[in-house]
Amino acid sequence: MAQAVATRAVRDLLHWNATGVSRVPMQVYADPGIYAWEQDLIFRGPTWNFLGLAIEAPNPNDHFTSVIGDTPIIVVRTKDGSINALVNRCAHKGATVCYQPTGHGETFTCPYHNWVYDHSGRLVSVAFEKGVQQLGGMPKQFDKANHRLTRLRVETICGLIFASFSERAPPLEQYLGPVMTGHIRRTLHGTPKILGRYRQMMQNNWKLYAENARDNYHPSLLHAFFATFELNRLSAEGGVRQDEAGWHHIVFAKRHTDQGHAEYESGVIRAQKREFGLADPSLIDQWMEFDDQITNSIQCLFPTFVLQQVLNSIGTRQIIPHGPEKSELVWTLIGFEEDTEAQTYMRVKQSNLVGPAGLVSMEDGIIGNFVQRGIKGDLDAQAVVMMGGVDVGPAPTRATETSVRGFWRVYRELMDV
Ligand code: FES
Ligand SMILES: [Fe+2]
Repeated sequence: MAQAVATRAVRDLLHWNATGVSRVPMQVYADPGIYAWEQDLIFRGPTWNFLGLAIEAPNPNDHFTSVIGDTPIIVVRTKDGSINALVNRCAHKGATVCYQPTGHGETFTCPYHNWVYDHSGRLVSVAFEKGVQQLGGMPKQFDKANHRLTRLRVETICGLIFASFSERAPPLEQYLGPVMTGHIRRTLHGTPKILGRYRQMMQNNWKLYAENARDNYHPSLLHAFFATFELNRLSAEGGVRQDEAGWHHIVFAKRHTDQGHAEYESGVIRAQKREFGLADPSLIDQWMEFDDQITNSIQCLFPTFVLQQVLNSIGTRQIIPHGPEKSELVWTLIGFEEDTEAQTYMRVKQSNLVGPAGLVSMEDGIIGNFVQRGIKGDLDAQAVVMMGGVDVGPAPTRATETSVRGFWRVYRELMDV
């Protein structure tokens, strides 16, 4: 898409009244035109998008399906062990080629008219290409080499697979920067194994969840479990880290440093319940897994990937947009082959804290819809994102929305071309 056309079209749709990102026009959460441009400028733009884990296709010829934005993707481990990502859209009439979530095979055959592709997306066979009994078939000028499945750039880090449509995106490690790559290597420190997976539909725009994961202002206010059982309160040490360019963010806390704060005792924090205790406190038992003593860390990579550490529950979250007012979240819980049985048990048990019915995260599945419902009827209104100032940058506190502003800064950079 020509850049000049995109600039004009998006500027006609999207109005940032202020120069900064401390005010966000509500229309970004609901406008179908903006949503359509995001496919082009964000998801097919100079970004790296998470597709899944390398262990989901452990053997040559294994494949699974994923998405980037609205675009369906096939992820395949080739015969030589490398990983390819292909758009899951037949070059003939656009049908979905792989319609099962996982599979195994040397080629991909489209179910509609049986065009066959190899693992690099090359079209290798067309049914009835030569016609039947010298009749029909493809004309002479039809060349299979001109028709293929679109192939993306692919890179992995610690078994996480990322792909990019764009040649403009720098190599993955450069895109992430040393703070982000260091934290990924710190969190995924062993040989990963999948402990479980859940998916949830959310009745809200994908960016409301992308903001929510970066927003460390809300956990002890929205989530009663966090505040009541002192797992994640702003009175514990914590802060925000970001890469140099400010595209990606880590929000973190150290539970054991919580000295309390008068505000939590004052009765004004809705989520702080004094009268409750856990009948089985082993649910929040943990072992200190990391030298940095961090007990909660949410790492958000632009645009739609989250790497979580909630106590010892480690996992990935992939945000999938489904139109302007709907999105999906895919959670994959991870342990390591090196874990003891007791550690695996503890990770699985703690995973009751997260996910769609998770004790500390179920509210996140609905709060985006509260916004979606609240903003109806007046998309000219603007959200206020001023906690901790109006700038973007690392912070030694979590009483800040700097990482949310960081998200909007890069979003604006890509959309306001
Ligand atoms: S749509 Fe795929 S072969 Fe026709
Ligand atoms: Fe939350």
